[in-house]
Amino acid sequence: MDQEANDHHAEVKAYYGETLQTSQDLKTNACTCDATPPGYLRSVLAMIHPEVKAKYYGCGLVIPLQLEGLRVLDLGSGSGQDCFVLSKLIGPQGRVFGVDMTLEQLAVARAHQDYHQKLFGHLVPNLEFLQGEIERLGELNLAPQSFDLVVSNCVVNLANDKRKVFQGVFDLLKEGGEFYFSDVYSDRRIPKDLSEDPLLYGECLSGALYWNDFIALAKEVGFLDPRIVSLGKIAIHQEELQERLGGIGFHSVTVRLIKLKGLEPQCEDYGQALMYKGTLPEAAHLFELDRGHQFPTGRIERVCGNSYRMLKETRFAKHFEFFGDFSRHFGLFPGCGSSLPFEEGEAPGSCC
Ligand SMILES: C[S@@+](CC[C@H](N)C(=O)[O-])C[C@H]1O[C@@H](n2cnc3c(N)ncnc32)[C@H](O)[C@@H]1O
Repeated sequence: MDQEANDHHAEVKAYYGETLQTSQDLKTNACTCDATPPGYLRSVLAMIHPEVKAKYYGCGLVIPLQLEGLRVLDLGSGSGQDCFVLSKLIGPQGRVFGVDMTLEQLAVARAHQDYHQKLFGHLVPNLEFLQGEIERLGELNLAPQSFDLVVSNCVVNLANDKRKVFQGVFDLLKEGGEFYFSDVYSDRRIPKDLSEDPLLYGECLSGALYWNDFIALAKEVGFLDPRIVSLGKIAIHQEELQERLGGIGFHSVTVRLIKLKGLEPQCEDYGQALMYKGTLPEAAHLFELDRGHQFPTGRIERVCGNSYRMLKETRFAKHFEFFGDFSRHFGLFPGCGSSLPFEEGEAPGSCC
């Protein structure tokens, strides 16, 4: 795997601090989000200040369920939209940190902190914006293994050294915590001349990881069973850019990386099952672990050992009834895919 040696920080800071004033200035739709938020989220998004919204450059929804009281970190928090939404949903007992390296972006986020704190009725702030690089999370004075959740929205592709980012996140997460993030991925490795193009890089395209390199990296740092929550193809409408990109396919993917020691490389069958109780108010009828694992309320579903642990050893445990243990192995769990998830007609398999 070719780890990028170039330092893109100066051009990325200039792009997000000076070139782009609002999302209208984007040249492609890579840093835009097509997903329709669920109703409960729409009502929180309606509370976000218009100046923050105007500078939103996210490519997915990075707000999972069961947030109350959590300690959360947002990598590349930009003008702060996701942090403000999280601040509302984690409530006064939780804490959110947003980190970004671009001063202009931090200034917008910080300028709207009091506004949102008052609007949400929080007597003391539960949100802090920090200046820093996501490749150097260890320098932010955040205690190792102290976070329940790390989110990020269209940022990891912009990092110089993706391995350092994943390692830093892994180190900050508690056991059972998760990295839930949206980013851009390519269907092949990006040639060097394109990754050196500041416009393509700034637009979140040519810094994208090839999907299989991402999976390998995630596993190397310890996220042993990456799960796809959702994915969508990025359409490049400009002919000139299409021509330059020469047929490389890009997808925006929301991924869930759960930190649990000993997850297995394949989905293994131990004859286990579980039942979602329907007790999350935002998901009364269906709980979605990932796009291959959707649990209707009240229905007993067979699961592999990894999925069982992802629900039993995390904050979601109280919403499920669990059946079985690991005492007897029945072989490979059926339906574990091995092709790229972007291929036409590819079924949402049980693992990435
Ligand atoms: C595409 S924008 C996304 C911003 C925000 N997540 C949102 O959804 O609006 C990328 C942001 O990541 C920040 N960023 C990019 N690379 C970074 C790095 N290596 N360290 C810290 N921040 C970075 C940029 O300054 C910018 O604010």
